[in-house]
Amino acid sequence: MATNDGSSVSVTDEREIIVEVKDLHKYFGRNEVLKGIDLVVRRGEVVVLIGPSGSGKSTFLRCLNFLEDPTTGEITVGGVHVVCGSHGSTFKKAVHQIRMKCGMVFQDFNLFPHKDATENVTEGPILVRGEKKADAVAKAHDLLAKVGLAERIDYFPSQLSGGQKQRVAIARAMAMEPVLMLFDEPTSALDPELIGEVLKVMKDLAKQGMTMIVVSHEMGFSRDVADRVVYMDAGLFVEQGPPSEVFYHPKDERTKRFLRHILPEKEPQHAAELGITAVDTEPVDIETGERPEADLSTGSEGTPVTSAVDTGIPEIPTGQGAAGELPLPPGDEKL
Ligand SMILES: Nc1ncnc2c1ncn2[C@@H]1O[C@H](COP(=O)(O)OP(=O)(O)OP(=O)(O)O)[C@@H](O)[C@H]1O
Ligand SMILES: [Mg+2]
Repeated sequence: MATNDGSSVSVTDEREIIVEVKDLHKYFGRNEVLKGIDLVVRRGEVVVLIGPSGSGKSTFLRCLNFLEDPTTGEITVGGVHVVCGSHGSTFKKAVHQIRMKCGMVFQDFNLFPHKDATENVTEGPILVRGEKKADAVAKAHDLLAKVGLAERIDYFPSQLSGGQKQRVAIARAMAMEPVLMLFDEPTSALDPELIGEVLKVMKDLAKQGMTMIVVSHEMGFSRDVADRVVYMDAGLFVEQGPPSEVFYHPKDERTKRFLRHILPEKEPQHAAELGITAVDTEPVDIETGERPEADLSTGSEGTPVTSAVDTGIPEIPTGQGAAGELPLPPGDEKL
């Protein structure tokens, strides 16, 4: 689990490597969507991936478990190593093994509509893992109870709320006993009042030590649970670190622009969780809960700072910093 002082970094260094990605590239036709990704994730780490639409977050997750074929690079998950772009039976076997080691939860649940909750959870263990039906059913009931659905084991997806469906989907992924859970915007299709119940299940998983890579702009969740936040832009991991660093002291201009302008504009509620609003562009400090002294909500001539909604390119506040630079918080020469 994360600590706000970043101490988890030294702890995680001792842990077994669950995921190792080296120089991963993915082309769709001539469009290079992943441009050389490197990543190491250790057992029990929770890594949250954020970034603008189209930056390649879903593609990266889908490449990790070979729902997409990465073009080049290397992927190791749970000790199984694959050189991407290879062919042949050894390659196919390794890809199959990696798929078995990853549980994936999608934005839109992907449940079988004609199967009830128990059957949705037992399908993979019985058909893919060869588990006996009675064992698979017992495990499914246990998992459904853990996600708070003990009373809904025989309900069909159409009889469940979005939050309940997503919890079935999490139980289904866990039933395959993965070493790694991948979540692609698991709460973005949910009504606001149902988001919390899914985030709670995810938090519980993290507490139990599950290794997780989560694409999500639920900033409160990330701040509380993530060991590491990775900011992705245009097919690259631009910046990564503990939430206290990436959210509140971003170093790269692209991260700053996303956090201070694009996020507040596109996802004001999530930005507000970090203490950022569209006109109040400097986040509160994660440790003190205070804002920097300077009022960055207006330029020196009292001009409100707004982002350029239509273009996604932020306007630069007048009278602060050199043209083309974001305003600097006082006393922070690093930024
Ligand atoms: N199957 C596909 N065929 C062709 N292009 C694709 C395909 N899937 C994704 N892309 C392109 O790859 C780029 C990255 O898409 P991706 O879905 O990974 O972005 P994302 O960061 O997950 O965005 P969002 O936040 O909107 O979900 C986009 O330009 C998209 O159009
Ligand atoms: Mg996506």
